[in-house]
Amino acid sequence: MQKKGNKYGTHRVIEPKGVLTQAAYKIDNNMDEIYSNEILCNVTALNIDSASFTQIEEACGGDETKIGEMIMGIVAERGKQQNPVTGSGGMFMGTVAKIGDDLKGKIDLQEGDKVVSLVSLSLTPLKINKIKAIHKDIDRVDVDAQAILFESGIYAKMPDDMSEPLALAALDVAGAPAQARKLPKEGDNVLILGANGKSGVLCGYEAMKKVGPKGKVVGVVRNPKQVPGLIELGVYTDVIVADCTKPVEVMEAALAITGGQEYDISICCVNIENCEMAAILPVRDDGLVYFFSMATSFTKAALGAEGIGKDVTMIVGNGYTKDHANITLNVLRENEKIRKLFEEKYV
Ligand SMILES: NC(=O)c1ccc[n+]([C@@H]2O[C@H](COP(=O)([O-])OP(=O)(O)OC[C@H]3O[C@@H](n4cnc5c(N)ncnc54)[C@H](OP(=O)(O)O)[C@@H]3O)[C@@H](O)[C@H]2O)c1
Repeated sequence: MQKKGNKYGTHRVIEPKGVLTQAAYKIDNNMDEIYSNEILCNVTALNIDSASFTQIEEACGGDETKIGEMIMGIVAERGKQQNPVTGSGGMFMGTVAKIGDDLKGKIDLQEGDKVVSLVSLSLTPLKINKIKAIHKDIDRVDVDAQAILFESGIYAKMPDDMSEPLALAALDVAGAPAQARKLPKEGDNVLILGANGKSGVLCGYEAMKKVGPKGKVVGVVRNPKQVPGLIELGVYTDVIVADCTKPVEVMEAALAITGGQEYDISICCVNIENCEMAAILPVRDDGLVYFFSMATSFTKAALGAEGIGKDVTMIVGNGYTKDHANITLNVLRENEKIRKLFEEKYV
């Protein structure tokens, strides 16, 4: 008879005791016996969170063998793929291998179903047997591995109207477009930092629908070559070129578009550190700043906003918001151009 575990997975925490699996340094990744309220998955690919992959790639000087060794090392030591520097994880794609006795018939999954995890790898028990390929340009690692979803864990069934890598790429950033739909109001001006990235493009698309013809959705990129493509894609009203680690540069370029009017909302989708103030500075008092970036520092954002006397509401980029998986996949279903871009860039 299978043992029953804790709904949130605390039965797998090895050290320190008393914390949840995300905060734990080390969790139990034994896959031989599962608990009655766990789901065992055979994993075919990991989508490493962009901030984490960027850090690992830099630390390894871009060398694929070293990147693979570092990922294997982290998982062997911690029982999960949680980057020790960024603290972030990513998600996995795989097939349901075994459903614990207590969950059988109570969830919409059958053994053999293809799934994508929507909880972070930073809290997911993972055992990698082999790294098969590293796709540096899209942060994806093909593996032969096993992972556990806890009872509270969220997942999406692999859709049958798109390829698996395409769905994985989009669902990686599922929280962002759903928030970009929820937060703006009609007529708002929205600023999106990291506008050419995966989450930036999806946010731009959703924000454009929401603000309507009276609002502006302005993308910030650091590379001028990206501007024409983004304008052609139709997900921004304007695209400006500025370095998001330079807040004054971003503010001046952003306010030039609105005739000096500060923004109602900014969404930070960059994948590097030190972009907090570029997201805060152009926003009006009582405006909103949504930090989707995992490279965001709470301290820098909080003290920075205080330091410039900005009364803005700052939202931590919770990767989950209601219906986020559907909203994200629907962008690809609704918009041929974005789907084509994702297929070319991330698959
Ligand atoms: N909150 C969550 O649950 C969650 C979930 C998944 C991911 N994330 C995080 O969200 C962030 C974005 O992810 P993503 O997959 O969309 O990343 P991405 O596709 O790699 O895009 C990041 C973008 O940031 C741009 N950028 C980097 N440095 C910049 C600078 N100094 N100035 C202007 N732009 C700059 C990059 O520009 P270039 O094209 O020039 O390189 C790139 O287009 C990451 O930090 C990731 O870790 C959060």
